[in-house]
Amino acid sequence: MERKVNFNINGKKVDLNIDSRELLVDVIRDHITLKGTRIGCDTSNCGACTVIVNGKAVKSCTMLGVQADGKEIITIEGITQGEELHPIQKAFMERHGMQCGYCTSGMIMTAYWLLSNRKNPSDEEIKRYFSGNLCRCTGYQDIIDSVRHASELMHSEEEKIVVEQR
Ligand code: FES
Ligand code: FES
Repeated sequence: MERKVNFNINGKKVDLNIDSRELLVDVIRDHITLKGTRIGCDTSNCGACTVIVNGKAVKSCTMLGVQADGKEIITIEGITQGEELHPIQKAFMERHGMQCGYCTSGMIMTAYWLLSNRKNPSDEEIKRYFSGNLCRCTGYQDIIDSVRHASELMHSEEEKIVVEQR
């Protein structure tokens, strides 16, 4: 059965007619054609499909598109600042938090959620927040280092903004 939904994605309003059985990840990839959100499993395990829904990280393969009605969604495409990469993206590049890259958009969105809640997460907190994200390449230590580095980069950007505003 077709249903009408409207939600806000990366700051833009969308109105869509979708099948009520469609998963949010398919709506994002196929209807809105934002392909940065990945599908890595059929079992809700890998976290490659992670997006932010109303401020919380959500595996978009575990949610129906119709459940996004009226919500605010952020995907990996929504965190870049124009041509400029987000500090989390820079940190993953600088600390080698990726190899094949398949898990990376989900990892970065989880980091975005974590660092929105905790400015200076401990390694234990990082591990806890990332417990739903799998990576078959990195061995995870470089991801933890990337998240720590992202937190430093975000602090120094905030300090720069404060100095510029003085
Ligand atoms: S594709 Fe959603 S958890 Fe793997
Ligand atoms: S970098 Fe290949 S799965 Fe994580």
